[in-house]
Amino acid sequence: MLDLHCHLLPAVDDGSRSVSQSVTVLLAFKSQGVTGVCLTPHLLASEAGAGVPEVQQAAFKKLAPAVPEGMRLMRGAEVMLDRPMDPAVARDRVVTLNGSRYILVEFSRLVAPTTMVDALALVLELGLVPVVAHPERYSCCEPSRARRWQEMGALLQLDGPTLLMPRTRGHRARELLSHGLCDIIAADNHGDDRSLGPVAEAFHEQGGSEQAELLLSANPEALVADRKPEEVAPFELRLPLVDRMRKLFKHNTEERG
Ligand SMILES: [Fe+2]
Repeated sequence: MLDLHCHLLPAVDDGSRSVSQSVTVLLAFKSQGVTGVCLTPHLLASEAGAGVPEVQQAAFKKLAPAVPEGMRLMRGAEVMLDRPMDPAVARDRVVTLNGSRYILVEFSRLVAPTTMVDALALVLELGLVPVVAHPERYSCCEPSRARRWQEMGALLQLDGPTLLMPRTRGHRARELLSHGLCDIIAADNHGDDRSLGPVAEAFHEQGGSEQAELLLSANPEALVADRKPEEVAPFELRLPLVDRMRKLFKHNTEERG
C-alpha cells in the first residue's frame, strides 16, 4: 500500500513533533504493509508559489536518514486553497504529489459549494489535477456535489480511519464510497495511530479486495507516477462491528437450521 497523505515531516505543522515520533509511525505502517508515504505538510495556496519552505527542507534532511528500510519517502503538500494558486506551482511541481500533476488540496470546513467549484476549476486551468483531501469533512459534500467535482476532473481522497467511524463524517465517507466517489484512500496521520491497516482489513473481510487494491495500492501508485488512476466500482463498506454482528447472527441462524 502507498499512503499519499500524512503529516510526518517533523515539527513543521500540527503533525508529528519529532523524528522519533515519525519513525514510530512509519514502523507501524510498515508492519501493516505500507511500502511508501508521501509527506504532505500543510501549506497555504497563497504561499505555495514560493516553493517548499526552508523549514520543511530542513525537517526532511533530518527525517530522511532515519526512515525504516524498505519505506519509500516522497514529497508533497496539503495545500489549503485560501486563494488562487500561483502558476509557479504548476510550473515547478515541487509541492505536488511526488512531482506529478496531482496536488492534494483542502478547504476550510464550512466552505461554500460554489467557492469549491471555482477554486477547483482554477487549479485545473493551471494544468494540475486537484486531489480533494477528505471531502467527507465538508458539510456541503453530498454525493451529487462530489460527482460534479469528479466530472470536472478532480479526484477524491477519503480518510481510511474516518471510513470506520460511526458518526456523521464516517457515514458521509461511506456514502461517497458506495457511489463510487473515491479515487484513493489515505490515513492523514498526524504522528498518531491513524493508519491504513484497519480499513484494508475491513475491505478484505467484506469482499472488497478489488476496490482495496485500487484505492490503497494501484491508484496511489498511478498518481505518484503521474499516470491516470482507474475508476473504482461502488462499494458498500459496513462498520466492522455491524459486520461481525451480522456474521454472528447468520451463524446462529444457520446452527439452528
Ligand atoms: Fe491532512
